[in-house]
Amino acid sequence: MVVASAPAKVILFGEHFVVEDKFAIAAAINLRAKVFADFNDSNFISISSDINSPNTIKIPINMIISGDIHGYSPSITPLLLILHEFSFKHHLLDRGVDISIKSEIPMGAGLGSSAAVFVAFSAAILKLYNVKFNLYDVIELASKGESLAHGKPSGIDATISAFGGILLYRRSQGFNRLNVKFNAPIILGITPEHRSTADMVNKVLKLKYKYPSIFNLIYDANDKIVEEAINALISSDINRLGELLNISHGLLSSLGISTLNLERLIYAARNAGAYGAKVTGAGGGGAIIAISNESTVSSILKAINDNGGKAIISYISDYGVNVDECSN
Ligand code: MEV
Repeated sequence: MVVASAPAKVILFGEHFVVEDKFAIAAAINLRAKVFADFNDSNFISISSDINSPNTIKIPINMIISGDIHGYSPSITPLLLILHEFSFKHHLLDRGVDISIKSEIPMGAGLGSSAAVFVAFSAAILKLYNVKFNLYDVIELASKGESLAHGKPSGIDATISAFGGILLYRRSQGFNRLNVKFNAPIILGITPEHRSTADMVNKVLKLKYKYPSIFNLIYDANDKIVEEAINALISSDINRLGELLNISHGLLSSLGISTLNLERLIYAARNAGAYGAKVTGAGGGGAIIAISNESTVSSILKAINDNGGKAIISYISDYGVNVDECSN
């Protein structure tokens, strides 16, 4: 049996801007999705998942090979597309497989839950069929799922989930790892709203095309923030980093991605002592991040919970995708 796991992410700076080839800084966090895969003696691929509600589907291998993968739920179809792509590229999909997915990452909250599942899933399949692969191969396969799930993703979610740590990312240039120490807690506050990343990305782009001269300035301001944030990270200046998170949130709010619920959580966190707080991910609901020192964590967690959010404490994780073979 093969077990692969991959982390959730937070975008510290630059979500949405990154879609239009601006800079972003993303960090992997210590919440993970796990995928277990093992051969079975049938001609079926069986996928069971605890995401949304527990369910299992069984699909004949020849349907995956021929690409006849329509009519399944939106959380399953991208996985079938990854398998189809794998069979197309490697011609190895010749044995049935039992796959089980378990995730501790809140879904649809801008924390990269789907990318983490796709990355772990891709790594598990490559390993199970004994393909020699590197992290770029994993990202390439996982991106097929991301494209189906999110339209035209920048690629930042799959990249950070595969590599872990803190990355400076630009769509046209790829990434640089930021070798900085950031041990402070990152507090997540999740709102009950559900939204689609593709819809939020399209909403922002529509507004950008309507007001190009204004938006170009806002987009350039993002890159200045990222530049300052790199210096703040290098010098471990958490106060400055917090202020930059607040400024970044102002820009993201001007793109139209904040909501009353997100604002409530952001102000609750700031008033409870956070150095800074902002929406993270696509917005329209989802999650905020707040940074703080250990002494204010409990009051920030309480403030988020008291204001209708679900608070979670997280830490940046250096570990990207991990894959192991084990006996059952
Ligand atoms: C989603 O985590 C981040 C967005 O910038 C979309 C993307 O980069 O693909 C909103």
